[in-house]
Amino acid sequence: MTINDVKHISLPKILDVRGNLSFAENHAQVPFEIQRTYWLYDVPGGECRGGHAYRETEEFIIALSGSFDVVIDDGENKKTYTLNRSYYGLYVPKGLWREMENFSTNSLALEFASTKFCAGDYVRDYDEFLKMKSNGEI
Ligand code: TYD
Repeated sequence: MTINDVKHISLPKILDVRGNLSFAENHAQVPFEIQRTYWLYDVPGGECRGGHAYRETEEFIIALSGSFDVVIDDGENKKTYTLNRSYYGLYVPKGLWREMENFSTNSLALEFASTKFCAGDYVRDYDEFLKMKSNGEI
């Protein structure tokens, strides 16, 4: 996987004077079967989240409120995505290093994952990630 496999996906937006509505379904807007969801909130100013890669887990990230940056790194190149609309999702395949930073006040990051939580799926050491990437292990 490389940064070119990341997809910034426009979600359906049902405009309504009563308030807008967006949605995401398995194997449609979300290109995998959702096994888990979690969310990041109350992130203090200046804090970063992420700082790891997954061996198998694919993720789909939505900025439900506020804004933040997702920095994707494939070991050779990096790309920063600013998420600041609740009708866009960022698809992040497995095997990529990610950091999340520049959280605005009251931002809310919703994440869908393709796996149940498994601590062993994480690669948290960047040098190990680079080694695994160059060996084709991740
Ligand atoms: P982590 O994935 O490292 O957070 P982030 O990448 O968003 O900075 O998870 C932080 C802690 O929460 C870690 O101890 C594992 C735990 N956790 C779960 O128990 N279940 C989950 O679904 C997730 C995402 C994390």
